[in-house]
Amino acid sequence: MSEGSFTTTAVAAATTADWVDPRAMLRDPFDTYDRLREQGSVVWVPALERYLVTGFAACRAVEADQATFSADVGGSGATMARALGAKPMLRKDDPGHAVERAPINPGLRAKSIRASWGPRFERNAQIHLDVLRERGPKQAELNRDYAAPVAARNLVDVLGFREATPEEMQRWSHAFIAGIGNLADDPGIWARCDDAQREVDEHLDVLLPHLLRHPDTSMTSALANAGLPEAAVRANVKLTISGGMNEPQHMITNMVWALSRHPEQRDRVLADPSLWPVAFDEALRWLSPIGMYPRETTRATVLDGVELPRGATLGVVIVAANRDPAAFEHPERFDIARSQRAHLGFGSGVHLCPGHWAARIAVGEIAVPRVYEALQGLRTDTRRDEAWFGWVFRGLTDLPVTWGPS
Ligand code: HEM
Repeated sequence: MSEGSFTTTAVAAATTADWVDPRAMLRDPFDTYDRLREQGSVVWVPALERYLVTGFAACRAVEADQATFSADVGGSGATMARALGAKPMLRKDDPGHAVERAPINPGLRAKSIRASWGPRFERNAQIHLDVLRERGPKQAELNRDYAAPVAARNLVDVLGFREATPEEMQRWSHAFIAGIGNLADDPGIWARCDDAQREVDEHLDVLLPHLLRHPDTSMTSALANAGLPEAAVRANVKLTISGGMNEPQHMITNMVWALSRHPEQRDRVLADPSLWPVAFDEALRWLSPIGMYPRETTRATVLDGVELPRGATLGVVIVAANRDPAAFEHPERFDIARSQRAHLGFGSGVHLCPGHWAARIAVGEIAVPRVYEALQGLRTDTRRDEAWFGWVFRGLTDLPVTWGPS
């Protein structure tokens, strides 16, 4: 399989995909991604006013060249700065980006995460396993009763927000995400986002001076003690609140959904727990919770044979790249035995998710294995309705589960 190279040398203008319907993508985007990729790895989509990049090699090429493909985009870059109080690292290129990113890297390495947060992740899972058990096999809903609150508690810990509740963390996260996506300028969304900003700032008013005197292993402490302007510290904490909860939450439900649909693979993982990390990565490739993120060209360029003007807005569709047949054999199959496993679910290049070890450990090594250990025979409950939502960010909003003998 060719993983990072282009097969074409000819240069042409982008073709137009005027058939793309974003409302249909909300229900199920995968047919659209397949059709787009067949049309070309870089295609102009009028309904979204951007070029969608769906080829694996093309997505990788974008991330390898931030001088040409900048993360400092207009549109959602402006709403992100408005929603979070200032532009965070995600909307900056190096060297400015690296100054804000470097302080958090050491605390998010696998060894640090296991030492600082492993026991907390275990405790958080246990608290909500009890909730699931209490609901019982006829009423338990994995997203509401387990995935969302466990992901929220884990983020409270990693950020060191000891005084915050998981409910507050969920509310803030949703308010920031809605604000970042508020291109239509809906005043109700801004009002909720402003409330979340005020509440998080009130926590930080107390926490930041405390952490300067008493540094700890939290992400907030790493940012606070890095000599950054305080506005940058606050914006990056809020960025993490918006990004560090939803995706781990979706990965808990995605893994259980994928394994329930592939019982023979589930049984292999349960018989050999060393396969949990592989199952995590294959689920992340197959059902990437972040579908797309934006980039903007700083100059006229050519991407996989397609001419792009200066100032072109791109949607880097990593979930489509993760199902590119040029990179993965039978990409539509969930297969923990596949040999090629490097995927783009955590992005790539300088913005590669710094929380990838936190997510791998919290979800793939703790939250999902523990729920299978505690509730023998765990599976999705097909008698009740499940629900998916979204395509830029996609996840299960309802996942009824049951357990015991089938
Ligand atoms: C399975 C769970 C997760 C997934 C799939 C995920 C995915 C991603 C992706 C794709 C990006 C790059 C976006 C872009 O380039 O525009 C990113 C960036 C980021 N993620 Fe995650 N993430 C996850 C969990 C987390 C966690 C747990 C944290 C924090 C504890 C976190 C914090 C961040 C931050 C701060 C950035 C910005 C990095 C930068 O700009 O250099 N993420 N994530």
